Amino acid sequence: MKPFSPINSKYPELWHGGDYNPEQWSPAIWQEDMRLMDLSRFKVATVGVFSWVSLEPEEGVYTFEWLDEIMDLLHANGKFAVMATPSAAPPAWMSKKYPEILKVGSDRVRKLHGNRVNFDWSSPVYREKVRAMATKLAERYGDHPALLMWHVSNEYGGPSYSEYNRKAFIGWLQKKFDNDLAKLNAAYWTPFWGHTFTDWDQIEIPGHPLSETAIQGLTLDWNRFNTDEIVDFFLNESQPLREISPDVPITTNLMGFYGGLNAWKIAPHVDVVAWDSYPQFSQEPMSLRSWAKIAIVHDTYRCLKGGQPFMLIECTPSSSNWYPVMSLKPPGMHRLEAIQAIAHGSDSVMYFQWRQSRGSQEKLHGAVVSHGRGENSRVFRDVATVGYDLELLRDVVGGASKSEVALIYDWEVAWAIEGSCGPIQKDKGYYDTVLDHYIPLWEAGIGVDVLSSDCDLDGYKLVIAPMLHLVKPGVAERLTQFVESGGTLVATYMTGYVDENDLVFENGLLGPLQDLFGIQVEELDARFPSDTAQVVVGYNELGLDGIFQASTFCERIQATTAEVIAQYSGVWYSSEPAVTINRVGMGQAIYVASRNDNLFTDGLVHSLVSKLDIESAVPFQLPDGVSATKRTTEAGEFLFILNMTQETHWVPLPDSFHEVLSGQDLEGSLEIGPYCVAVLKPLG
Ligand code: GLA
Repeated sequence: MKPFSPINSKYPELWHGGDYNPEQWSPAIWQEDMRLMDLSRFKVATVGVFSWVSLEPEEGVYTFEWLDEIMDLLHANGKFAVMATPSAAPPAWMSKKYPEILKVGSDRVRKLHGNRVNFDWSSPVYREKVRAMATKLAERYGDHPALLMWHVSNEYGGPSYSEYNRKAFIGWLQKKFDNDLAKLNAAYWTPFWGHTFTDWDQIEIPGHPLSETAIQGLTLDWNRFNTDEIVDFFLNESQPLREISPDVPITTNLMGFYGGLNAWKIAPHVDVVAWDSYPQFSQEPMSLRSWAKIAIVHDTYRCLKGGQPFMLIECTPSSSNWYPVMSLKPPGMHRLEAIQAIAHGSDSVMYFQWRQSRGSQEKLHGAVVSHGRGENSRVFRDVATVGYDLELLRDVVGGASKSEVALIYDWEVAWAIEGSCGPIQKDKGYYDTVLDHYIPLWEAGIGVDVLSSDCDLDGYKLVIAPMLHLVKPGVAERLTQFVESGGTLVATYMTGYVDENDLVFENGLLGPLQDLFGIQVEELDARFPSDTAQVVVGYNELGLDGIFQASTFCERIQATTAEVIAQYSGVWYSSEPAVTINRVGMGQAIYVASRNDNLFTDGLVHSLVSKLDIESAVPFQLPDGVSATKRTTEAGEFLFILNMTQETHWVPLPDSFHEVLSGQDLEGSLEIGPYCVAVLKPLG
């Protein structure tokens, strides 16, 4: 567990800052901004995100002077800049002159100018313009003393159904299928409903409302193509930055588990991964599940670059105006959200945005500086508190964390499940099932790495791969190897149905994983919500027992080499196997054939944790609603304790600790108030 380097050694701190849009304001306000930034300890300003028209108001006419002034002002005031390329907002003149740069909707109608991220990924003109602008920025600011990082574009996403993109998609398919249409037809099972293609040009972009989505393999590849096209767009845009300023790190802000871009594909091309987190603070107290939803994304983003700290590059200091109801973060919540990010591996807390815009789409969105309030607002004070905390936590920079458990969430699996007609329509619950397995670990303070199914599994004791519906080449081999060499693997219903082309495996459900689990999967019973079924767990060496409720999905399976540890009851296939364990090599592969209640999932996870001696961040049971994580740097271990409830809790302490945020030394126990956080360093 070696610590990592700071994002940029020019400023080896936890970054506190956010989107700064000075072009909306007069220079008099800029001066005031510097004063307020000092007060709120806002050190890193992300400039230029949507500034194209302010930088190039007419084609070939550049007006960088205001940005020069801002960069110098930031520098003179001891602040830093993350500079964005402005491609998320092509200027109106460009849309008018080159309408082909605009996105085409799924109705095949080209959008008119007026929104953002409204460009076509494959438009040659737009790609050229974007590259030219990135070149100008890199040449002008690449060695500016305030510059810490390039922020390429903003929240890449949203497919375009243009002819450019259709052609690019066909080119992508030709490459994938070695220019052999017969291979494509075979992979997509196109004789079904007479969908055989006889010419590449017959291929349409799948998607409502104009072209049906009946060829599910094609839909899956369309998703893959969109990710690849975005990555390609990113590479084109970022290349001048890399070439001209090789020492300046590059990132782009991603959107959690957003389905339009497989984050694993872009991660290798950025220096730091970054994401925008906007949970809805709609209930008080916010449910633990909602906190877990943030934590699981943090854990994913930490894994995207092998445990390297990521950035929380946007969050709101108060509320987000695009939710159905823009509820406020109650007092204390902002600090909790900020420190939660650090606890899970972020090296920054940054906001959208510095100052509330007076007009347009986001005039009511929360910001550090609220309308007319300067430093006199609760939100401003909350932000300043976080700024102060981050300074106290500076030794956490680069901190690594150790996980003995890996949980698989795979974008391609999500696409395949979502695109499949049946076993139920609507949401089949892939993400929620992954989350159900994450929560008991997170609640117990156990570090979890959230990986894609392509990742290396060496070193983990437990791998949980819920609903691994699509099994890519190499995955079955890796899972088998993991179990043979002593690992414990847990899988569930709907595993191994299809290959990477969405073709059901020739040997049936569970395909290449049948031997590993020692079972055959005969069929799946999809159940109405009112249909009850039970799973009865008998005596077994995991120490799990009881009667649990099953719903939605119950597979009928037969054990070949596996031991049956639970059976169905209350259904016509009662006494058939419902949970099995297969011992393979030095490890074991556990199969859960039905979607069971959380009591079962929690029980299974807890028994495995204790049986496999999986280490928690704390050697005792945490109170409900209190989480614990650990990060280690050269300065030692930092234990983060977060209370996500409205009650005060007492957390037993095994040793004496120094609490970094309050400066107190503690022994015996920690009293942690509602929504409070503590960061402990062992004493001595
Ligand atoms: C996104 C964008 C920002 C802003 C916020 C509002 O994260 O990147 O520009 O629109 O949403 O929540």
